[in-house]
Amino acid sequence: MAGWYKATEIKEIPQGTMKGVEVAGAKVLLVHGPHGLRAFEDRCGHMSAPLSLGAFKSGVVKCALHSAVFDAETGAVRSQPQMRMGGVDKLPPELVEAMMKMGQIMAQIRCEVLRPYPVAEENGQVMVHI
Ligand code: FES
Repeated sequence: MAGWYKATEIKEIPQGTMKGVEVAGAKVLLVHGPHGLRAFEDRCGHMSAPLSLGAFKSGVVKCALHSAVFDAETGAVRSQPQMRMGGVDKLPPELVEAMMKMGQIMAQIRCEVLRPYPVAEENGQVMVHI
């Protein structure tokens, strides 16, 4: 049912950090930036990896899977996904060829803006509207 739900306590998410939480059955990414709290669906706009496993730094959230970068204030895509691997020169040519094909396919997958949720702080509680 739609409504405001407690996500966590504000002390659990200090400024400069992010945290994945489950709220009323929804996976939510809480980001505490310099302008306050933001909440997004905890799902990368590229291939749905949990963004809470990525990194939050300098106002952006970076996906751990293919390194897409999202604006931590708005959820806008700041940088498209990338496939970079060290040591490719040491792999068998067949594997490198398969990876190149995967990269070509992946480049066709559009990276979407993150879905935001309304978020508020109330008496030390972080509330999210689901
Ligand atoms: S799933 Fe996040 S960049 Fe691909």
